Amino acid sequence: MALQLGDIAPDFTADSTQGSISFHNYLGDSWGILFSHPKDFTPVCTTELGAVAKLRPEFDKRNVKVLGLSVDSVEDHKAWSGDIEETQGVALNYPLLADPDRTVASLYDMIHPNANDTLTVRSVFVIGPDKKIKLMITYPASTGRNFDEILRVVDSLQLTAQHQVATPVNWQHGEDVIIVPALSNEDAKAKFPAGWNELKPYLRVVKQPGT
Ligand code: BEZ
Repeated sequence: MALQLGDIAPDFTADSTQGSISFHNYLGDSWGILFSHPKDFTPVCTTELGAVAKLRPEFDKRNVKVLGLSVDSVEDHKAWSGDIEETQGVALNYPLLADPDRTVASLYDMIHPNANDTLTVRSVFVIGPDKKIKLMITYPASTGRNFDEILRVVDSLQLTAQHQVATPVNWQHGEDVIIVPALSNEDAKAKFPAGWNELKPYLRVVKQPGT
């Protein structure tokens, strides 16, 4: 059955540009992002992998370990990384998994045969410290992802894991959030003593906790 939110992220051991990686051990107590790209030495992928390397300090701040993957070999990944550094102005600073036999791609349903029967699509999995899948998104090969959006979702996931709030449309860290409907007004008073703005009984807007 296809993976779903809340499932345990399948564990695996695979070669990478930083040696053999056992996924769950590698993640430890951190959050994780596992993302696939279709192919080494391709233009959109080159820009994406450079963008992720530039965002590494932001991932570190959020205790997120990032792992890339494609069906290419470690040797190809290493040869390509020089092109990424040359053209994107940043060196790869996270591991790229080599999955030539498609073991990991199959575990995570990263090959969509009606799009391409040999290459991975642009999948993203965000995994919590409990090893459960918190987010899955899939882009086609022709569209580069917005990794600022992935960071935004991580901010939301980390906030909503800690507090009984949800984040509204286009929310950014520091902006107001929404008290989850499951929390009664009575219980909300204890958690949000400064109060909230009740636009509707089910739409209660409150300052982001911790800001
Ligand atoms: C790219 O990264 O540019 C790309 C990769 C595979 C198919 C199409 C585009």
